[in-house]
Amino acid sequence: MTEYGQFYNEDCIEGCKKHAPDDSVDLIITDPPYGIDGDKLHKHYNRKEGFVLDGYIEVPGDQYAEFSLAWIEQAARILRPGGSIYIVSGYTNLVHILNALHATCLEEVNHIIWKYNFGVHTRRKYVSSHYHILYYTKPGERATFNINCRYGANERDNAGSLNYRDREDVWIINREYKPTQRKNKNELPKQLLIKMIQYSSNEDDLVCDLFLGSFSTAKVAIGLNRRAMGFEKSKIAFEGNARRVAAIEPGSLMPTLRRAGPSNKPLNQGRLWTEAERELVRARYQELIQTHPTKKRAIELLSAEFGRGRFAMYNVLKEES
Ligand SMILES: C[S@@+](CC[C@H](N)C(=O)[O-])C[C@H]1O[C@@H](n2cnc3c(N)ncnc32)[C@H](O)[C@@H]1O
Repeated sequence: MTEYGQFYNEDCIEGCKKHAPDDSVDLIITDPPYGIDGDKLHKHYNRKEGFVLDGYIEVPGDQYAEFSLAWIEQAARILRPGGSIYIVSGYTNLVHILNALHATCLEEVNHIIWKYNFGVHTRRKYVSSHYHILYYTKPGERATFNINCRYGANERDNAGSLNYRDREDVWIINREYKPTQRKNKNELPKQLLIKMIQYSSNEDDLVCDLFLGSFSTAKVAIGLNRRAMGFEKSKIAFEGNARRVAAIEPGSLMPTLRRAGPSNKPLNQGRLWTEAERELVRARYQELIQTHPTKKRAIELLSAEFGRGRFAMYNVLKEES
């Protein structure tokens, strides 16, 4: 347990009930066990078995539907209204994850395909080289979606808009090849996590992973100045990784981030305002000012979320007084 992290070596379903109040988490990013007995998932990207960490806990295939319903129900409960959830899933048990999501109040935003390298080698069929990422939000408030967090609206290269390409729903992101380092079976790459965290959360937000594995979500969240929490049932996976995550310096990934160019016009600049949008801006400002230390920072975040310039934000807030 640190100032930035609350981690529990527990089953996530029981652990959520004990430690996570209703509506308390801003963002969930999670990668549940796949429910494939005797899977070979780890072989295709780390060929030396000795470097794959022991202690991965699987869920029997015949319990997968019930298991998915139970943890997704908890995820929906602990997410705040307007909070976002990204679930990484293979194809085999995708139907159970989709059914479980359908049984909650969560609303689908995107069904993302993540294409990775080192696909499973096959001889008599196509190579399997993608996962599904189900991106849903909890209704009740406007979800955080920082549209210009990585590329400004007008940034282009020869193939067109960088902002548009970054927001397409097929993501090509390589797994990390760590030939001499120990890693969890199916460890998610840092660049994938950075992308989800940048778009769907702000600094100081609470990011939760119900299946921590190597704590990759927590490490990236803390590196990006977010708070992290999560659960891992395996004692072996938990112990070493909890020590490693405690050594991550908050904000240490911030200098590595690509920033949108300063000359870029915000996406919605010049578009006519509606009264409804003005009201949303004022309400969101009241929320942001509770958790962000300065008015300037709250306005920067408002500007990114609404794709409008900072002066426009000041003007809308001035109209209120
Ligand atoms: C696919 S891995 C997560 C990998 C992780 N995203 C990473 O990048 O390392 C799933 C993890 O969930 C753990 N697990 C299985 N059942 C669990 C449960 N009921 N509660 C918490 N963790 C569980 C497994 O031990 C495994 O480490």
